[in-house]
Amino acid sequence: MKTLIAANWKMHKTRAEARKTAEAVVAGLPGNGRSLIVFPPFTAIADVAEVFAAREGLAVGGQDVYPAEKGAFTGEISPAMLRDAGATWVLTGHSERRHVLGESDAFVGRKTAFALSSGLNVMLCVGETLEEREAGQLEAVLRRQLREGLADVAAETAAAHVAVAYEPVWAIGTGKVAGCAEVLEAHALARRLLRDVVGAVADEIPLLYGGSVKPDNAASLLALDNVNGLLIGGASLEAESFLRIAEAG
Ligand code: PGA
Repeated sequence: MKTLIAANWKMHKTRAEARKTAEAVVAGLPGNGRSLIVFPPFTAIADVAEVFAAREGLAVGGQDVYPAEKGAFTGEISPAMLRDAGATWVLTGHSERRHVLGESDAFVGRKTAFALSSGLNVMLCVGETLEEREAGQLEAVLRRQLREGLADVAAETAAAHVAVAYEPVWAIGTGKVAGCAEVLEAHALARRLLRDVVGAVADEIPLLYGGSVKPDNAASLLALDNVNGLLIGGASLEAESFLRIAEAG
């Protein structure tokens, strides 16, 4: 399975800043066969797509999407608009959408299914809060998020067009990376739960880890069983550190 190294720029970068970082990523591309995906803010998707110019191993995605073709949904963006700007991927269910913006599992599922049916690849994000982990609910939370997130997705579609990012909420932007033992356990669990949801093709779905990934912990995370890539927030904002992570291991 190809290793995916994804950058979530969140609400950072003007168009000019995004372009500059994207150019530096292209200039320093590692050539180790890994696929790099950058999720810029909506306003910069077209700029980053232009810099990447459909180059092998580089893709652009949206950080969110609304599950409708068009209509009276002020502030939202459709899959067709993302594709028109050059995006081939979209994130769904990022923890900031779930916990800051209050998105439900069912809504994340609708977005995932609609984006896939509109021709986008989807990176579905799942992960437990600290409270849920401490209450012994890791398995229940991941099962619910995976089941509802992929509720209306055919197994073959999931195998070909879905990646899952496991991001423990307590490790996002906190500097608290989950330890290797915790990541190993959570990814084995996520793989098993994915099999319950989509069957044997679960083994073809890349499982990424996210949450305080840095150049100095990337190699040990990528070496773990069932870790097929990384989703990086803070450390992806500078091309230099993003590229060091892309080269790690
Ligand atoms: P972080 O963010 O790397 O800054 O912890 C990861 C994410 O939210 O995708």
